Amino acid sequence: MSHFFAPDRWETPDLVLRSFMPGDGTALAEALNVSYDHLKRFMIWAVPTEDPDDCEERVRRFRAHYLLNQDFLIGIFDREEKRVLGGSGFHLREGPLEGGRCEVGMWIRGDEAGKGLGQKALAALTAWAWAEWHFHRLSWHCSSENFASRKVAESAGYEQEGILRRGLSVRDEPPHDRIIYAKLKNGDSPSRTPA
Ligand SMILES: CC(C)(COP(=O)(O)OP(=O)(O)OC[C@H]1O[C@@H](n2cnc3c(N)ncnc32)[C@H](O)[C@@H]1OP(=O)(O)O)[C@@H](O)C(=O)NCCC(=O)NCCS
Repeated sequence: MSHFFAPDRWETPDLVLRSFMPGDGTALAEALNVSYDHLKRFMIWAVPTEDPDDCEERVRRFRAHYLLNQDFLIGIFDREEKRVLGGSGFHLREGPLEGGRCEVGMWIRGDEAGKGLGQKALAALTAWAWAEWHFHRLSWHCSSENFASRKVAESAGYEQEGILRRGLSVRDEPPHDRIIYAKLKNGDSPSRTPA
């Protein structure tokens, strides 16, 4: 892969998944500010109040990392791209981009959670990864106690590979067990050793 120009957007009938762009800071702050109670247990970066200018700085940094192929933060938007429904990303936590592996992260805004959006978004991200990115392995890490997250992974066909005992920090509680799920492009079971 001598050159890789990361694709910027993927659309479904309900959603637009795209790189955060300059100008998205206010919408991101609004989404985070209605979501603190929903996010705080598992998203240790969440804070009670986000400032729009801080978020604008953040989305510009996200965009820069995206263009440099360093980290791919992805906004989940409604079709009109007026509302941030959540955030996601293809994170290079399993080695460099050339290796074709990444970890998918996700949060859904509090007032839209539990309505099937996370499942739709992960199905769309997975389809996009296979269609336009060079990834052949996507992983998903979550707390053993994050039942909504586990359901999202399982509904998209991610298979549980292992458990890192006490491997995940959460807010105000002792560490939880970290469950690792993954899905492979060719559909092989992750536990199958190539011949
Ligand atoms: C986890 C998260 C991304 C899921 O997105 P979502 O849009 O709320 O999820 P969905 O509505 O698509 O699906 C959730 C599923 O989990 C199920 N679920 C939720 N809580 C559950 C529980 N305590 N026990 C069992 N199942 C549960 C729901 O019933 C639903 O399944 P169904 O469609 O069969 O009824 C979202 O809730 C979120 O942002 N959580 C906080 C941040 C976070 O934990 N991110 C994930 C880090 S790995």
